[in-house]
Amino acid sequence: MSMSRAGCFVIVLVLLWCSPLAAASRPPAEGTGGAVASDERLATEAGLEILRQGGNAADAAVATALALVVVEPEAGNLGGGGLAVIKFGDEVTYLDFRETAPAAAHRETYLDKSGEPVPGASIIGPLAAGVPGSPTGLFELHRRHGKLMWPAVVEPARRLAAEGFAVSRRLHHGLVAKKDVLTRFPETAERWFPGGEAPVPGSLMRLPELAKTLEDYAQRGPEAITTGERAQAIEAASTRHGGILTAADLAAYAPVWREPVRFEAFGWQVASADLPSSGGILVGSAAAILDRLSWSEEPRFGAQRAHLIAEAWRRAFADRFLMGDPDAAKAGATELLASSWLDQRSATVDPMKASSSSNVEPWEKAVTIGDVNEPTDTTHLSTVDAEGNLVALTTTLNGLFGCALYVPEAGFFLNNEMDDFATAPGRPNLYGLVQGEANEVGAGKRMLSSMSPTVAWREGEAVALGGRGGSRIPTSTLQVLLNFWLDGDGLQAALDRPRVHHQWLPDQIFAEGDALSPETKTELEARGHQVTWVGSLAQVHAVRWMAGGQVESAVDPRGGGGASGVVRPLY
Ligand code: GLY
Repeated sequence: MSMSRAGCFVIVLVLLWCSPLAAASRPPAEGTGGAVASDERLATEAGLEILRQGGNAADAAVATALALVVVEPEAGNLGGGGLAVIKFGDEVTYLDFRETAPAAAHRETYLDKSGEPVPGASIIGPLAAGVPGSPTGLFELHRRHGKLMWPAVVEPARRLAAEGFAVSRRLHHGLVAKKDVLTRFPETAERWFPGGEAPVPGSLMRLPELAKTLEDYAQRGPEAITTGERAQAIEAASTRHGGILTAADLAAYAPVWREPVRFEAFGWQVASADLPSSGGILVGSAAAILDRLSWSEEPRFGAQRAHLIAEAWRRAFADRFLMGDPDAAKAGATELLASSWLDQRSATVDPMKASSSSNVEPWEKAVTIGDVNEPTDTTHLSTVDAEGNLVALTTTLNGLFGCALYVPEAGFFLNNEMDDFATAPGRPNLYGLVQGEANEVGAGKRMLSSMSPTVAWREGEAVALGGRGGSRIPTSTLQVLLNFWLDGDGLQAALDRPRVHHQWLPDQIFAEGDALSPETKTELEARGHQVTWVGSLAQVHAVRWMAGGQVESAVDPRGGGGASGVVRPLY
């Protein structure tokens, strides 16, 4: 039987629809001299400038991170903390520069006399601030892995702060959205609402006080911030507004080199963030459960894949309840990525029916269910150099503009990372995450994170990626990897694909609008899932290296940010 022209046309359309290129929002940037992917064009340019000067992936990562402090002050930071997973040749390392609780913090810091949480206490104002880890963390990343001189790596950010930059639409909208909270603090209002209004998109913004901080940081390293007048100014600003952060806390802070979480998945070696982040363990355990459930053999966009991935996340996030600071966690990668435990978790998945989170331990400890807010916080960058060295670095103030207090003498915002502790164990935090006693507040402890900076590699190929978006970071990171590893998507298409999310509590599948067809949603509901549409989940940025030296950079189309860039050969 001969096929009609219309039939051929339909087949061609279907093939185009299924091909990775047809799905990509844009071609990835390609080159050979290195690549950077970050939230902001000027930050990506700063990283590329450093690569062009002969810097390596670590130099580029630090330069990009510092430029984000200037052009994306709502998330890029010196007043927060972060995590980086680094692959230099065969050496794979993990730098934890997560904030710590100030020395004066304790279990009841955010509770009133009757033991009830004080509304907003761990979210707004400097009582919510952990001890910043970024000043020492970024310096330490460069000290161990950098190639250029330290002042050269700081210079692009200093220049941006001194000479000025065009205010992005995202920064403008963030300021407008948060105006009520930000203007509670006169210091913040004066800098960010001159004349009472947020600077309009495209207007030139100079930050001379931050330029001065960066100049000193370039000359003296972290002590320019963590000791002396700036540290005193941070303590004074904190005290003025009811905080407990002191100059002594700043001086005592130290980043820690740790072993990353390591696992193998679908033929790839993977290294990701271990405690104090849950991210790498969540990515690893969900990948292992999906492998056991033969997930990759199910039809790509059908209900079965959505059902199984939701069940895998339900179990992985239940285990998150046991996690916290590495010294306080009730379980970590050793227990939660053990084959026997993953076999046990997988065996409880009904292939056709949703479990109830109330039947997935440790349910009895978790008491309430929270809404998931749309996150706009945190920022991720990925870099690769011509030698194939990679850095995945995620850094955060937690909420947009952190605790909302801008310290003029330092030129940056303080974080509100204390809300990532279980400030009232068993109750949901900013992301609706219900957390356990392992993550309760304690002086000097690191609060549990979901950041998932990740590096994956196999013969002749490697990628670095991670995202912004709170509890949705690990679920988005894994879905990008699955698209890329198993379904033939190119890097950009892998980022673009719509996603789903489940985090044990609340017991719901969150789906981006085009992630599920109406029929698939109906089928999932018939299996017992509650499905909630969300605008968008996390934003993931990634770079890739291939044997022969080709590199790619791709950024998430969600959220209106994202700038990919590569160093191209000069012919
Ligand atoms: N503050 C977001 C996170 O660390 O997961």
